[in-house]
Amino acid sequence: MHISLLAVAGVLGATGALAYLYPPGLRRRLRSPERVPGAESLPPGGSSAVRIAGEPALLLKTESGYRAFSLVCTHLGCVVRWRPDEARKKNSQKKIAGRFACPCHGGVFDSEGKVVSGPPPRALERLEVRERNGQVFII
Ligand code: FES
Repeated sequence: MHISLLAVAGVLGATGALAYLYPPGLRRRLRSPERVPGAESLPPGGSSAVRIAGEPALLLKTESGYRAFSLVCTHLGCVVRWRPDEARKKNSQKKIAGRFACPCHGGVFDSEGKVVSGPPPRALERLEVRERNGQVFII
């Protein structure tokens, strides 16, 4: 019994150490760019949710091109949600229309990923977008 608890504790400790030594940002940089299927046909204002290195991310198409963000909140790691402009029609959601909103503690980020309100200490992580041969990739 004690040995299995020690084994579990050892595995958890090793997992934490690996996560520390091999953080998501590094994981993304070490892997190949991820193609976003259908991104080429997104209209301005459109978005596509994807997973990059196992993490949720969002590709936004704007009038000036593409932007991509990690959807992991910089406060405590909840997954933020993109609230497209259509939400402006609902009065209760006016404050978060065209922004990212975190459901955990009310953090709000603008469409550039910058903190607008709430406890997040810094902007959403911006991901690099590349277009190659008519296809869109997130790095
Ligand atoms: Fe997003 Fe706290 S985890 S505001």
